[in-house]
Amino acid sequence: MTPFHLNNKTILVSGATSPIGHAICERILEMGGKVIALGRNQNKLSDLVNKSTYPENLQTEYVDFELVQSIEDLVKRLPPINGFVSAAAQLLPMPVQFLQEEVIEKVMKVNFHSPVFLVSRLFSTKKVISGSSFVFISSVSSNHPYIGGVLYTAAKAALENFAKVIALEMKSLKIRSNSIQPAMVHSGMFDQTEAFIGKEKMDEHLKNYPLGPGFPDDVAWSSVFLLSDAARWISGTKIVLDGGLTMYP
Ligand SMILES: NC(=O)c1ccc[n+]([C@@H]2O[C@H](COP(=O)([O-])OP(=O)(O)OC[C@H]3O[C@@H](n4cnc5c(N)ncnc54)[C@H](OP(=O)(O)O)[C@@H]3O)[C@@H](O)[C@H]2O)c1
Repeated sequence: MTPFHLNNKTILVSGATSPIGHAICERILEMGGKVIALGRNQNKLSDLVNKSTYPENLQTEYVDFELVQSIEDLVKRLPPINGFVSAAAQLLPMPVQFLQEEVIEKVMKVNFHSPVFLVSRLFSTKKVISGSSFVFISSVSSNHPYIGGVLYTAAKAALENFAKVIALEMKSLKIRSNSIQPAMVHSGMFDQTEAFIGKEKMDEHLKNYPLGPGFPDDVAWSSVFLLSDAARWISGTKIVLDGGLTMYP
């Protein structure tokens, strides 16, 4: 049997209602895994099941990453898991001089505090099976901050450090933890970024991608790889997914 399969693995996926999250869920299912898809919009969660090729292995659960109690309640409902893909995030680009406390709190809460709190509760309630794999969808921008991106890029950098700390703290249980750093992917944040910088600047930026911008499945397949036993020797590191954008010195 190929080590790339996910048979007998139950994977929790946050941000499952995003195009990238949706692709991650479907590719996990395609590789034989079971998915618990997290989202805060019941209609979008129902859509995931209705559109899925493997609805029998797809469970959906409500969670709002802005509410601590919502995460506490979620963890009580969850079965033991073999992995977690953290894909929920808020972009909310804003130049530093215009930042409001509510925006700072929202981005840091959804992009960093809540994944940390969720994972902490998963461990403290013994819901993480030995040999599990954690995958944090970060961004290439954590190493390449951009104008208006202070909150998003700082939260992603913090998330990558968190991924590494899990790898260190949980090594005795053979739990692996890694980050993925995508550049521009045709998904929700692509559209938000284009609206922020304008189409002309986006088109200019995309010329720097030797392989063009990414698609949700590009992130999904790398996530599947890191979740699988084929990646059994990979922990505490990052995979850059950028179509060659950052290969030039
Ligand atoms: N697209 C890109 O170019 C790109 C590049 C690098 C990294 N990424 C990363 O890839 C992931 C997915 O990106 P995307 O472009 O597909 O994002 P997106 O379309 O903007 O979706 C964001 C996801 O986060 C969820 N979310 C936001 N606030 C939440 C909250 N309070 N509670 C629970 N869930 C919440 C959203 O749920 P709702 O459906 O309810 O809004 C949605 O599922 C993100 O982590 C992003 O940072 C994306």
